Amino acid sequence: STIALLFGGRSGEHGISCVTAGGILGAIDRERYDVVAIGITRQGRWLHVSDDPADWQLQGATPPEVPSDGDEVLLPTGTKTPGAPVPLRVVRDGRVEPLAEVDAVLPLLHGPYGEDGTVQGALDLLDIPYVGSGVLASATCMDKTSTKAALAAAGIASAPSISVHEDEWAQRAEEVGASVRERLAAPWFVKPARAGSSLGVSKVTDPAELEHAVKTAFAEDPLILIEQGVVGREVECGVLQGRAGGEAPRTTEPGEVIVGDDLDFYDYESKYFGKGTVSIQVPAALPDGAAERVREVAARAFIALRLEGLGRVDVFVTETGEVVVNEVNTMPGFTPSSMFPVLWENMGIDYTSLITDLLEQART
Ligand code: DAL
Ligand code: MG
Repeated sequence: STIALLFGGRSGEHGISCVTAGGILGAIDRERYDVVAIGITRQGRWLHVSDDPADWQLQGATPPEVPSDGDEVLLPTGTKTPGAPVPLRVVRDGRVEPLAEVDAVLPLLHGPYGEDGTVQGALDLLDIPYVGSGVLASATCMDKTSTKAALAAAGIASAPSISVHEDEWAQRAEEVGASVRERLAAPWFVKPARAGSSLGVSKVTDPAELEHAVKTAFAEDPLILIEQGVVGREVECGVLQGRAGGEAPRTTEPGEVIVGDDLDFYDYESKYFGKGTVSIQVPAALPDGAAERVREVAARAFIALRLEGLGRVDVFVTETGEVVVNEVNTMPGFTPSSMFPVLWENMGIDYTSLITDLLEQART
């Protein structure tokens, strides 16, 4: 069958999405699948691009980028025959030509305009099968204020926080600051509501730094949240669930991100560009019973937030053993060395099999 990989995109995680695509292009079972690589430029154009994994590697500190000179992909509008592949066309040298008959899309997009339900909605409208969560779960998980509300409704703990819009901050920064100081114990994490990979996130230990952190977050999103820092170990759990109704989500043994004293927190540069000391321990060496509780919370969060296909649930395990959800990713980083594939490798599912697993469920 034929699979379209969709990557790049309009968000700040454009380059990370390209690296994820490079990993998958290098490992997808090419005897089983024909692959069409579709890159979305930073401006949002869908282009037919190279499917050579070598073109999508991290070059030192420069993430790859979808070049703007590819051939434009045309999406089919109108109804299609149920179950039939979707014909994609491309504009080449000013002429419209057939590109491929696609059976499913693998949307490897991180961040807004990709992981937030917008692309999922477009694919739903066009009746194109795809891997992973649909509109609602994608939108809920992209927006950290909505994630918290949905988790709270399901009785799942997350860090206390205050959200604030840019317009509100412009009018009453003093009052918001006062209520943050009154209601949330420092340190605080200031985060864009809708971003990923820690873009725009700052840790604030001195209240005098709040203003600067807030401005940094507003550069990514007009809606931000100020969160009370959770003292605990940073633990991540992979989840998979086939589309066949009623199947319980499968979880991995959790992994731990161990951040050295030379880092404030696990930020963008330490995630991808080797800043500071970070080690990933899979499986995490947690106290008795904690791994089971993490897996149980991950499965409950997956169901409560209505994820489909895959997800990575990031939590803190506090000193008293409480599991507090940090965030839920509907399209976690997916290079061979990313946490999600490493977690599944530890469960006996290698990278190529994991990709096959996901592609097969998109078409059932
Ligand atoms: N947002 C990044 C890609 C992750 O969660 O892995
Ligand atoms: Mg994330």
